[in-house]
Formats: sequence, C-alpha cells, structure tokens
Amino acid sequence: MSASATPANRAAEQPLVDVRELRTWFELRQWGFLKLGSVKAVDGVSFSLYRGESVAFVGESGCGKSSLARTLLGLHRPTEGDVVFEGESMSRLGRRGMRDYRARVGYVQQDPFGALAPFMDVRRILAEPLKVQGVRGRAERERRIRDVLEEVRLSPADDYLRKFPHMLSGGQQQRVVIARALILEPSLLIADEPVSMLDASVRVEILDLLYRIQQKRELTLAFITHDLSTVRHFADRIFVMYAGRVVETATVTELLDHPQHPYTRALLAALADPDPDNALAMREVPGGEAPSLLNPPSGCRFHPRCPRHMPGVCDVDDPGNFEPRPDHLSACWLHR
Ligand SMILES: Nc1ncnc2c1ncn2[C@@H]1O[C@H](COP(=O)(O)OP(=O)(O)O)[C@@H](O)[C@H]1O
Ligand SMILES: [Mg+2]
Repeated sequence: MSASATPANRAAEQPLVDVRELRTWFELRQWGFLKLGSVKAVDGVSFSLYRGESVAFVGESGCGKSSLARTLLGLHRPTEGDVVFEGESMSRLGRRGMRDYRARVGYVQQDPFGALAPFMDVRRILAEPLKVQGVRGRAERERRIRDVLEEVRLSPADDYLRKFPHMLSGGQQQRVVIARALILEPSLLIADEPVSMLDASVRVEILDLLYRIQQKRELTLAFITHDLSTVRHFADRIFVMYAGRVVETATVTELLDHPQHPYTRALLAALADPDPDNALAMREVPGGEAPSLLNPPSGCRFHPRCPRHMPGVCDVDDPGNFEPRPDHLSACWLHR
C-alpha cells in the first residue's frame, strides 16, 4: 500500500486510467426486435487510477461492477463517455490498437473454471496470449510460462504444465487464471470478485497472492468485490458503487473511519452487526431490493431505501459529488 495514494498529492501525475462520464447500457429486446428499454449498468461514472495503486470497487450484486470491469477491458463498447489509458483514448483505437490495449490490462474473473478452456493444458493456456501478441520462439515462451507459474506459486512448474483445468483444485485454477492475466506484463490488473467462488480456506491465500504480486510488480490493481470486509488490508482507495454509479470515494482508512454516504454507512452497519434482531443496526440497514437499472429511481437512486431521505429533495434532483471532508467525495444531498 503506498502512502501517496490520495488524489491531492497525485494531482500533478498523469493517471494511468482516466474514466470520464462512462455509460454502458444494454438494450433489452423481446423476441429480438421489440425494444423494452436499456439496462443502465454503468451510468455516468468518472474516476482516475494512478500507477501502482490498489483500488477496490465495492457494491451489491447487480450494481454494475462487472459491466464496468468489462468496459475497462474493452469487452463492451461504452454507450457514452470514454476510457483514457496512458493518455490514449480507447474510443480511437482500431483493431490493432485494441489488441495492444488488451495486453496492457490483465483480467481475473470470478469463476476460474469457466475462465479456462477445459481442453487446454496449463502450458497451452499460458502460451496462447504470448502467441497472440507475437512472442516468437518456443524457448522464450517456455521461460516466461515457467517464471509466471513460480510467481503464482504453482511450483515446481513441471508438476502443473501438463495438467488440464479439471485436474486442479479451485485455488490452483485461480492461480492459473492469475498467471495468464500477468504473463503479458500488464500495467493494470482487474480482479472481479476473484475469491467469491472459492472455498473459504483458500480465499486468504489468493488475496494474499494478489497483494504480493501487486506490491512486487507495482501494478495498478482494481479489485472488485461485494464484500467490504475484504478490502481493508488490500486497497489504497475505495469506490462505493450503487445502481450504476460511484456514490462515495476516499482512501480506505478515511472511508471506513468516516463513512459519509448513507449507503456506505448501511453497508458498514451490516458488517459490524450481523445480528438481524438488533434494531439499532437494522435502522441503518437498507430494506428492499437493489433498484432496477432498467428504470432507476428518480433523483438520488438510493432514496427509496435511504433512512435519511428528504422528501422533495432526494427524490427529485440527482446529487452531484460533494466533498464533505478533504479528498472524500460523496454523492448525497445531506452534504449540501
Ligand atoms: N451483457 C448484458 N446484457 C444485458 N444486461 C446485462 C449484461 N451484463 C450485465 N447486465 C445487467 O447489468 C446489470 C449490472 O450487472 P453487473 O455489471 O454484472 O453487476 P455486478 O457485477 O455488480 O453484479 C444487471 O442488471 C445485469 O443483469
Ligand atoms: Mg459481477
């Protein structure tokens, strides 16, 4: 974790990734033609990521985390807005540019087994991206494959090179996915709920591995999770997401010690007190369900569940970002 992670001391630095008013909408159609509307999975998100920092995107299932990740990876075209990577606008990249771009961004998915082709052995899984990027010479490829297997602690490499995914445990599969994400030496690694499908016993190991790799390689890591409890030891900054938006941003300690947005407070209250009968904690826990992204609520999207909802304000106007504390952004009318 770098101490210089606050946006203030980095203002002079060029960000690695600059996301501006990003929108990724999915058109919903019935029988292939009848337009029902758009699922606004990412709906006006802006942020910058700096070299070597580790950030966490946190929010409930369905709030648009994976859609955001996949847009950053170039797998979805933004409906609006742009992603500027190392000063280069993604919207201007052609096919070749996109291929180079993908080499600079590593991706670790939630489900390791689904991410690995079942008919390829580990050597082939790791050789493939090298071939696509034109790394010539079998010996060079073999060296890089062995090095990356050591790095993810699948060692000795000879024990794993000829294994197929089904011959590996969930934790080992996820190490292979991480190795594949690293083999082209990306500057950004996106890990989308990398441990949520693994046994509890291996979760800490995999998180620890990701943390060590991020530190050693000085990678920028975007760690996506629905679980606020996993981020404290890990991230420099947190982005709290709600219904396709980022609603609160600060450094980890600042955000966890001084949560500002009622949604973040509710998430933290739920963490601190898992007892469903505790009325005090319940008061802060939002009831109901995550809102529909097809027809999001008017005004602040959190207002239907918000314990501090101010009628006539929160249900009418969309709050922009306020800065209730230094370098701490929160999109809530309470800070007006
Ligand atoms: N390819 C897609 N086509 C249509 N809707 C999608 C697609 N991907 C995601 N969605 C919808 O977008 C919303 C956000 O999903 P997602 O980004 O997966 O959220 P999260 O990762 O936070 O759980 C959900 O309503 C989901 O159903
Ligand atoms: Mg997801």
